[in-house]
Amino acid sequence: MSQIQIPRGTQDILPGEIELWQYIEAKAKDICRRYNYHEIRTPIFEHTDLFQRGVGDTTDIVQKEMYTFEDRGKRSITLRPEGTAAVVRSFVEKKLYGNTNQPTKLFYTGPMFRYERPQSGRMRQFVQFGVEALGSDDPAIDAEVLALVMSIYYELGLKDIKLVINSLGDKQSREAHRQALINHFKPSIQEFCEDCQGRLEKNPLRILDCKKDREHPLMATAPSILDYLNEESKAYFEKVKGFLDQIGIRYEVDPTLVRGLDYYNHTAFEVMAEGEGFGAITTLCGGGRYNGLVEEIGGPATPGIGFAFSIERLIMALKAKKLELPFEQKVDCYLVSLGEQAKDKTVELLYQLRAAGVSADKDYLDKKMKAQFKAADRLKASYTAILGDDELANNRINVKNMETGEQVEITLDSFIDHMKQQIEGGHA
Ligand code: HAM
Repeated sequence: MSQIQIPRGTQDILPGEIELWQYIEAKAKDICRRYNYHEIRTPIFEHTDLFQRGVGDTTDIVQKEMYTFEDRGKRSITLRPEGTAAVVRSFVEKKLYGNTNQPTKLFYTGPMFRYERPQSGRMRQFVQFGVEALGSDDPAIDAEVLALVMSIYYELGLKDIKLVINSLGDKQSREAHRQALINHFKPSIQEFCEDCQGRLEKNPLRILDCKKDREHPLMATAPSILDYLNEESKAYFEKVKGFLDQIGIRYEVDPTLVRGLDYYNHTAFEVMAEGEGFGAITTLCGGGRYNGLVEEIGGPATPGIGFAFSIERLIMALKAKKLELPFEQKVDCYLVSLGEQAKDKTVELLYQLRAAGVSADKDYLDKKMKAQFKAADRLKASYTAILGDDELANNRINVKNMETGEQVEITLDSFIDHMKQQIEGGHA
């Protein structure tokens, strides 16, 4: 029979590798706890309209990359390409804005889907970890969100990274900039790709994000948003930068940073990997403020800001820097048996150990004693317990501490309690 292969742009994460994922997720969740952000889980699929409205009709994500299908009830359904629109949908639908604790500070993690051309760091299914803070337009919360994401990288040991920020301004500033962009590109728009021609009137900011026309000379001379910020937007951006300076988070301002999604205004940012070991993709994380999105999704006017990064790209960065994280997978106790009756008895002992909170395992392949010891070594067992038919008959069992080599013989009746004490003592 021919083999069936994994779909392009997806991956299996196997034992041995998953521990790194779990470590990263646990670290990110712990930092969210310290910042008082709470987890939210939304469905993996949503109505297609949500992303058309939320992410924006003229974006690459909506135009080219969504996994959209009709379900059996003839509804158009899309596998989520990102998390923000869904979180905002839930915020509106579940009226989270009515809770007494505001702003609403949320985090999420889970698979996202984009039909992109796969390459290193660009998958069709990838796992994002993201944060959204809804209900405050205090520039201090922009700084908080940025501090949160940088803490995740720093605490995982990634120091060679750069925070790049920009301001996209408020509605009025964006409108002035939009008009300037139209004036700039219009006379030569025929030289641009078809997508850009379509974007000119609808959303000229998207032209700056075009992958095909990146090298066109008019790109480099395009009007900068920073020249079109009104006083309020300028003051807001200054405040955000001031807070970052105050808490000691370094950043660079890049006026060409526009982001690939439509919902942003004011603060927009990316975290980039620096140094050797990276391919074409150096953006580790993206985010920004989206003060109009909640209204766009049908809720009351509510400001918001957030970010998301993929764990795949974070792991790429850790590997490029050859960073080893401190985790070890091992079992507390491996049961070695000699003889038929002893082997049968281990079934019960194993169950009791596990029920007592001790991680334990035994052989299931009828291996000789020597091979059982080898298995214990491979699993890095802290203890091996050796039970032969003779010991069983005398209500005894041998317990060996694999680190010190010390071996004790105890009564079988006291075995579970003994192991429990050893492990609890060791963990304490
Ligand atoms: P985004 O820039 O589209 O923003 O994606 C955020 C991050 O997701 C990227 O920086 C990258 O780490 C990861 N990512 C995106 N596409 C892929 C892919 N094909 N393969 C691997 N990783 C990928 C958003 O998704 C916004 N929702 C972020 C946000 C949250 N803005 C405000 N709140």
